[in-house]
Amino acid sequence: MKLFTPLALPNGAAIPNRVAKAAMEENMADADHAPSEALLRLYEAWAQGEAGLILTGNVMVDSRAMTGPNGVVLEDDTHLDRFRRWAQIARTHGAQVWLQINHPGRQMQAALGQATLAPSAVALELGSLSKQFPVPRAMTEQDIAEVRQRFTKSAQLAEQSGFTGVEIHAAHGYLLSQFLSPITNRREDQWGGSIENRARLLVDIVRSVRSVVQPGFAVAVKLNSADFQRGGFSPEDARRVVEMLNPLGVDLVELSGGSYEVPAMQGEARDGRTLAREAYFLEFGRDIAAIAQMPLMVTGGIRRRAVAEQVVESGIAMVGIATALSIDPYLPRAWKNGQDTVPTLRPIAWKNKVLGSLANMAVVKFQLTRLSQGRATRPGVSPLKALLLQQLSATCQTKRYRRWMERRAVR
Ligand SMILES: Cc1cc2nc3c(=O)[nH]c(=O)nc-3n(C[C@H](O)[C@H](O)[C@H](O)COP(=O)(O)O)c2cc1C
Repeated sequence: MKLFTPLALPNGAAIPNRVAKAAMEENMADADHAPSEALLRLYEAWAQGEAGLILTGNVMVDSRAMTGPNGVVLEDDTHLDRFRRWAQIARTHGAQVWLQINHPGRQMQAALGQATLAPSAVALELGSLSKQFPVPRAMTEQDIAEVRQRFTKSAQLAEQSGFTGVEIHAAHGYLLSQFLSPITNRREDQWGGSIENRARLLVDIVRSVRSVVQPGFAVAVKLNSADFQRGGFSPEDARRVVEMLNPLGVDLVELSGGSYEVPAMQGEARDGRTLAREAYFLEFGRDIAAIAQMPLMVTGGIRRRAVAEQVVESGIAMVGIATALSIDPYLPRAWKNGQDTVPTLRPIAWKNKVLGSLANMAVVKFQLTRLSQGRATRPGVSPLKALLLQQLSATCQTKRYRRWMERRAVR
């Protein structure tokens, strides 16, 4: 069974098996926006589950730019001891553990009270929820240089903390994905227009990160196979980006898709084929495999062992799993022992797709919270209840975040 054979990375390191725990934002920072005890307990469960690769939820490279109010921030070495414990606990059972680093760009809630930056001043279109996201300010050359420097610094700090790699988040409509998409990137300078220009910031960041970390430290990229919007980042663009990443010493490219506007990562733009329906980006993965020189991973929809095996048999190196590992963190171990567990959530068929997608996220986060408390998961939780609880805690966390930022400003 190929699923449980090791994968040799271009950097010489090995991932013990082909199952990866994909990134899930936990929103479990402590009062300093460093990893909390609850977060560590959650990773203890995933470590015991024996996924070969554990990707952390996205960690912010800038405390002023948050994907959520209670996110972990890694911008200096003040709380490195807590990051060290995080890496150590997650690595206990031999997994590679990569810190995902991210900047939200325009996908940052207005309630957080920060200036929002993006490649161009293009606001999110989320129907009645649009006003929760401010119109961003187009970034200056100096802003762009600072972002590159921040990704580099966070990667360096991740290595110092004992993580075995980083994954640069260039998917799901966040800042680097905004640069890649012609819908959000209307720039007419060297950062916009052709795909070479739109990919320049990602390429610069990858180069810069690679130049400061050890050769054995993994550098990965999460990329959309498309953003599923007319005139947006296309599969052809994705192929070109992978070609540009080929010579840069990238150890893995994870393929996903979509953004807050079109949540394809949750299966909203899947095509009709059975396997594709359970591994949303497999078709794209196969196309890209034809030109990629680094191992590929596809994430999205996978929860059955047979599907995971087919993905790997088809030539994709790694299988990324998020939702199913929030319900059963020990899934890889169970599969390895021959059990065919299929962790599944109740489908959410709400008319309002945006709210439905938020409810889906809330149900998953509900499971993460239970695991972080050492409790059993409850996949049958009511989506409405999970969403309301999530909104309530986000309101409190937002107030706490704003107070934290104010305190830092007066120092
Ligand atoms: C609650 C939640 C949080 C997520 N946070 C992140 C994140 O921080 N970074 C990321 O790249 N993807 C994130 N994702 C997307 C997952 O990594 C994955 O691409 C998506 O859920 C599809 O995989 P699945 O069908 O196995 O869940 C998140 C998904 C969920 C449900």
